[in-house]
Amino acid sequence: MDGSAILDRCAALARHSDSPDHYTRTFLTPAHRAAAAQIADWMRAAGMEVRTDAIGNVIGRYEGARPDAKTLVMGSHFDSVRNGGKYDGVLGILVPIACVAELHRRGERVGVAIEVVAFSDEEGARFHTSFLSSRTLIGRFEEAVLARHDEEGVTLDEALRGAGLDPTRIPGAALDPSKLAAYLEVHIEQGPVLLDEGFALGVVTSIASGTRFSVRVKGEAGHAGTVPMKRRRDALVAAAEMVVAVEREMAGIEGAVGTVGVLHVKDGTGNVIPGVVEFSVDVRAPDDARRAAAEERVLAKLDAIARARSVAIERSRTHDVRSAACAQWIQDRLAASIERCAPGKSARRLPSGAGHDAMILAQVTDVGMLFVRCGAGGVSHNPAETVDARDAGLGAEVVLDFLRKF
Ligand code: HGY
Ligand code: MN
Ligand code: MN
Repeated sequence: MDGSAILDRCAALARHSDSPDHYTRTFLTPAHRAAAAQIADWMRAAGMEVRTDAIGNVIGRYEGARPDAKTLVMGSHFDSVRNGGKYDGVLGILVPIACVAELHRRGERVGVAIEVVAFSDEEGARFHTSFLSSRTLIGRFEEAVLARHDEEGVTLDEALRGAGLDPTRIPGAALDPSKLAAYLEVHIEQGPVLLDEGFALGVVTSIASGTRFSVRVKGEAGHAGTVPMKRRRDALVAAAEMVVAVEREMAGIEGAVGTVGVLHVKDGTGNVIPGVVEFSVDVRAPDDARRAAAEERVLAKLDAIARARSVAIERSRTHDVRSAACAQWIQDRLAASIERCAPGKSARRLPSGAGHDAMILAQVTDVGMLFVRCGAGGVSHNPAETVDARDAGLGAEVVLDFLRKF
């Protein structure tokens, strides 16, 4: 399979960006809608029937050899983080489209119907949601998020309606799990394991558990020139001590990671002691027990710092997803396809530290994930993210083999 053509499409899609300076594509922006239209065109050209659901997922369907065949869902997301890499999510949409196009070219049908889903909101960068579009597909969309707003004050409900989507139809967008054969997601590894060990592809064994909080620290705003240091209740210094505590507390739990990605000083001004600071806390661990332990340690530490500094602290959970196991039978079939497509190369099995739509689909059907090696030290969520065309091509051959063996 032609990996260069797949990567060229990733690059073409990345030109649909919210920013002229770098690649950022957040939920329901004009760039996001243009990318959705481009993906729909590529799906149609691959011989698929295309529909868009109420949350903006673009879904291409390719019938199986028998009308009563179950459906194998494949896909990934086409929204991005801010200033991200052009392969995160998108590769997992374009590889299956290329595979269906090849089946279509050959006039071939396989043992399952295939639905390729371009998920519209996985990163949640605009409305601080998470897995919004895959949660919709499994019927677990939480209506309360419709009131969430972006930095301009636009609510999710307004953004959906502005994009010509009808939020009242979201509950009806759920797939029927009884009709599903499984879910398979191709994704870049977003880490260095395959690169360091010389594997082009990897078979994912499990996906790490994750939780995210929004924390608000309230001290007392004051004049930078007149309040003695001992009488301050500086919200930013308290928050800074909390940010360092997130890093320090993670060190104590094997495999746990903690990140503060966003920090905002409310009404920040150079000559004002900060009164209110908000920041995000993202905690992950390979399994739910370690994630719960890490979360408990971090939150207890933040409360202790707030007490010691006489500042108030409020927190709200904005994301919470259990770890997910990839089905053994799918892992084994992927490994067999890798051995057929790359003789002599065994499959490297490895866990995913990153979250994926697969962990949401895992709540209703068996899931599997195929990782493609990243270059540039394995970096991701960074414009330096890179993939080798031969690895992308091999990944597509493995997926095609996997489909034809169904
Ligand atoms: O945060 C994650 O793991 C994914 O990129 N949404
Ligand atoms: Mn990502
Ligand atoms: Mn991703």
